Amino acid sequence: MPSVPPQMALARLMTGYAVAQLIYVAAKLGLADLLKDGPQSIDELARLTETDKNSLYRVMRGLVAAGVFQENDATGFELSAVGQCLCTGVPGSMSAMALCSDESYFVWGHLLHTVKTGETAFNHLYDMDRYQYLREHPEAAAKFHAAMSGLSAQIAEAVVKLYDLSTFDKVIDVGGGSGTLLLTLLRAHPSLRGVLFDQPAVVEEATEQFAKEPIAALAKRCEVVAGDFLTSVPAGGDAYLLSHVLHNWDDENCRSILRNCRAAMGEQSKLLLIEIVLPGRLNQSPMTYPIVMTDLQMLVMTGGRERTEPEFRALLQDAGFELQRVIQTRGLDSLIECVPV
Ligand SMILES: C[S@@+](CC[C@H](N)C(=O)[O-])C[C@H]1O[C@@H](n2cnc3c(N)ncnc32)[C@H](O)[C@@H]1O
Repeated sequence: MPSVPPQMALARLMTGYAVAQLIYVAAKLGLADLLKDGPQSIDELARLTETDKNSLYRVMRGLVAAGVFQENDATGFELSAVGQCLCTGVPGSMSAMALCSDESYFVWGHLLHTVKTGETAFNHLYDMDRYQYLREHPEAAAKFHAAMSGLSAQIAEAVVKLYDLSTFDKVIDVGGGSGTLLLTLLRAHPSLRGVLFDQPAVVEEATEQFAKEPIAALAKRCEVVAGDFLTSVPAGGDAYLLSHVLHNWDDENCRSILRNCRAAMGEQSKLLLIEIVLPGRLNQSPMTYPIVMTDLQMLVMTGGRERTEPEFRALLQDAGFELQRVIQTRGLDSLIECVPV
């Protein structure tokens, strides 16, 4: 294959903002779902999305160039394997995540401010932190929790396969969001009970969802508790789960969350973290790119960070825990098992 001149390689990277917007527009218009059952002509796509045909055609070509769709001479456009992940309601769907990218897009425009000052770009732009913003913007919160729920559905299957929860009686999911992860664990372990712990508006929404079929019967084994994990967490669990929580926070806040878990836990309880574990040294593995980008996303959006295993060990030790083992999933995340000391 001919090598790409460095200027062209750089130019491609420099248009990353355009690709992000093309994917956002595709998700917003539901283009992948329209191609789910087979190729569609540009006339039909424009009619179904009520968009300007000429502009949409150029957007579709951009998405072909980015590898999301394919152009089919005879019939129009069709899905590639990458594009299938933008369909809604399919296993591994990333549609909700793509829809959630609109605020990130603006926030990334202030990366230079973060680099110069250390201030989180999100806080600089919106004059409040990410979670206060979500409390004040229910629509953005709904999009965020839908995106997290999609991610949780993937990680939940891995946790069930890789970790034996059958010895536990009650798992407290601290910052459990919409409860997707917890419900999957309860489904896999019929004698397990759960507590979904999150902020008031989040658990209110989860309570409404839990009352509906088909999850109502399963949700009977799940208590829902509202609170602030920076202040305290519910007592009485023998497993405490923190999934994608610590990477949202700086070290000081992480210590508070972990100490609050430690104070609520019995001596025989376990703490389970689901987080990315940063490699000590970056390599060329295909996982490196999304891991580094997630770390940067935390830098600009929440002021949090991804951490190496020694960094996790140190944080845990400060809060009265010992890291026992790290179980790597096939995706980006690891399950980190910790015990009180
Ligand atoms: C990145 S999401 C992770 C959600 C879920 N654990 C998962 O893995 O999909 C972080 C969660 O922490 C919750 N959260 C943020 N601040 C909180 C606080 N002070 N007290 C309790 N929960 C909080 C958010 O509402 C959100 O559900």
